[in-house]
Amino acid sequence: MTPESPAAETYARAGGKVILLGEHAVVYGSPAIVVGLKLGAEAHARPDAVASLDLGGQRHELRGGNELRADNAAEPELSRAFRALLGALEAPPARARAELAIPAGAGLGASAALGVAIARAVAGATRSTGAGITAAALAWENVFHGNASGVDTAAAEHGGCLWFQRGVGTTPLSAAAPLRLAIAQVEPGASTRVMVEAVAGRHRADPQGVELRMRAIAQLVERARGALAKGHLGELGELMNDNHELLRALGVSTPRLEQARTMALRAGAFGAKLTGAGGGGCVVALVDDVTRPRVQAAWAAEGLRQLEAID
Ligand code: MEV
Repeated sequence: MTPESPAAETYARAGGKVILLGEHAVVYGSPAIVVGLKLGAEAHARPDAVASLDLGGQRHELRGGNELRADNAAEPELSRAFRALLGALEAPPARARAELAIPAGAGLGASAALGVAIARAVAGATRSTGAGITAAALAWENVFHGNASGVDTAAAEHGGCLWFQRGVGTTPLSAAAPLRLAIAQVEPGASTRVMVEAVAGRHRADPQGVELRMRAIAQLVERARGALAKGHLGELGELMNDNHELLRALGVSTPRLEQARTMALRAGAFGAKLTGAGGGGCVVALVDDVTRPRVQAAWAAEGLRQLEAID
């Protein structure tokens, strides 16, 4: 490339996710099992004199360097997140634009998919790696969520079916039977930050009760790993149901989530639960080739938007 030629644009993508088991407890160090979605986020980036991010029809321009400093607190969250991402990559100014193909704020890992796609595109365009894609996407994610476990960014980065534990890492999981999922968006989700803080509030009020539930979730996740490896879908479905009950006891379900879950179970799903932070958002059901169309038809009759996992 000559100094005059326009800088080449780099393209990257990353997928969304559904948490099969373990959300919320994963924030406290328990493991989680997560599955990648086919769709997620796409990003383009090229070096530029001023760092900027185009997203959702708005341009966010950064002035004065990439560092996330206290005096940037007045910036919109998206600008601060982009600044944190560039800072972690140690990237020079870049112009990025990104698009989402999944609903935001529905527990499907949209912000993590954006973070990974943008980090990949910027790293490719500027040839900067800094602390790496994982750290850059987590820096982005933490501006929105404050205390992200990293499960969403791990799923966006690696895809497939994964075992994730905060501070330990990510292991690909293989299932002995096809892992067929049905996913419906039931209602708009609540902010992950708000839901994680709500659980933290319950923990402060009743540490023993919440820790008991967190330990029970961790045990379910461990057993689910065995059920997956053996292809025991009935057992896996039961474990998802038990996980849902524990999440409900933590106060993160809603009447609409309960209703959509009951519909999936009545239509023959092995198990069904809310997925992600809750307070609204999505339900995931474990199905097979026979029950998937039945569950999907029941949800379609309610007008619910449905999404595809990688299977
Ligand atoms: C959000 O997809 C999952 C939560 O456990 C938050 C996190 O792990 O960062 C609720």
